Amino acid sequence: MQNLWRRKSLAQLVGETDDSAHGLKRTLGPLNLIALGIGAIIGAGLFVRTAAAAANNAGPSVTLGFVIAAIGCAFAGLCYAEFASMIPVAGSAYTYSYATMGELVAWIIGWDLVLEYGIGAATVGIAWSEYLNKLLEFLPGSPVIPYPWCHSPFEALHDASGQVIAHGIINIPATFIILVISLLLIRGTQESAFVNGLIVIAKVTIVILFIVCGWAFINPQNHTPYIPPSSIAIDSQGVSHHYGGLWGMLGAAGVVFFAFIGFDAVSTAAQESKNPKRDMPIGILGSLAICTVLYILFAHVLTGIASVEDFRTGGREASVAFAITKHMPGFGWLARLVTVAILAGFSSVILVMLLGQSRVFFSMSRDGLVPKIFSDVHPRFRTPWKSNLLFFGFVGLFTAFLPGDIVGDMSSIGTLFAFVLVCVGVWILRVRDPNAPRQFKTPLVPLVPLCGIVVNAAMIFGLGWPNWTRLGVWLAIGLVLYFAYGAKHSKLGAS
Ligand code: ALA
Repeated sequence: MQNLWRRKSLAQLVGETDDSAHGLKRTLGPLNLIALGIGAIIGAGLFVRTAAAAANNAGPSVTLGFVIAAIGCAFAGLCYAEFASMIPVAGSAYTYSYATMGELVAWIIGWDLVLEYGIGAATVGIAWSEYLNKLLEFLPGSPVIPYPWCHSPFEALHDASGQVIAHGIINIPATFIILVISLLLIRGTQESAFVNGLIVIAKVTIVILFIVCGWAFINPQNHTPYIPPSSIAIDSQGVSHHYGGLWGMLGAAGVVFFAFIGFDAVSTAAQESKNPKRDMPIGILGSLAICTVLYILFAHVLTGIASVEDFRTGGREASVAFAITKHMPGFGWLARLVTVAILAGFSSVILVMLLGQSRVFFSMSRDGLVPKIFSDVHPRFRTPWKSNLLFFGFVGLFTAFLPGDIVGDMSSIGTLFAFVLVCVGVWILRVRDPNAPRQFKTPLVPLVPLCGIVVNAAMIFGLGWPNWTRLGVWLAIGLVLYFAYGAKHSKLGAS
């Protein structure tokens, strides 16, 4: 009988880092880590999902959804920080859980992280396609890509009377950007700290510019009532869900939670950090704090400038550029600037996510849980190129044929689930191994992990049954694969 709960010891994990012939250089200080975090965080969640959550779930009270999501992330972030400071190795939640909760749970998390990284990259790719079309609109002659070639078969374009005037076939631009970034990763053109720094500055600048310039255009009518009364709404896929009230806000929190995904990516850079024990918590919590403040202000202004009706109709796509063009006369330059910065910013988010994806599967492959092909390194570029190609094929299918709403929520729910398991893991490790050295300790254990579990589980609840079903099916497929392959090939099992 296989031992599904076999664990890697802490000493084994840290030893693997020391042994590494290709040890990564320790060059990152706290500011670099915060920049890395912000580079991975600000993206489609803010520039696309905010408007979707306002339209479908909560109206202007999407800002309160951001508050709930930030609280869930802060609790989980405190748990991530303890892990990152005591197990400073690459691999994120997968690696931590192998040491704490055993192989089966580690597998589940690794498999679940495909939703965070792979499907997350697909979500940003689809958002990229929306803003690409916006950019083309600004060019002379507005050479936009015809609707069928930049939308999934599950989407349709309606005229003012509600008649369908076009159907999606395939989202070519979204798949294209995933291909380009995958090829970049194969070449090993990793984003240098300098380019990442520039993109971070551009993203933060446009967010601040939008808040400052847009504040004067807030129409109080759009904010009345701030929390819409509770009702049942039908979304674009024909599924009914709560709109307004507390449930609407919880649903919005689950949707905009996507905007925070990536702050945990800082923990994957632990091996490159100069002083991981001190700087990881600063990097993780610092980037989270800065983004939370920006997000709340941004959402307040966005929902004040344009109405919920706008976000359900003409502003359903590329919502920020739409709101500026329609409601901020004289600020056409800002709409253009925002669009260009968003396209660059989304590319860097996709890069970080696809990189994270290949790193997690690299670790899993080294452990024997997924086939060796995922850790085969290119002889010249020294990158896991086969893994990059396989994930292009997989992620590309999602970008080509599914709508952004579905993949975005799948990514949110998968990540929320991983966060819950990380909170559980910190607690378990405190009980099981209370004396292991910890440079950063999550305060008030078990209260903080418990709050993390409750808030993140509440957001899972808010995302509704279609998403619970998708998560359930995904995890069931994962379990089948584990028993058919991972459990039999595990290196730890063989040793
Ligand atoms: N947080 C990242 C984004 O919003 C994934 O695009």
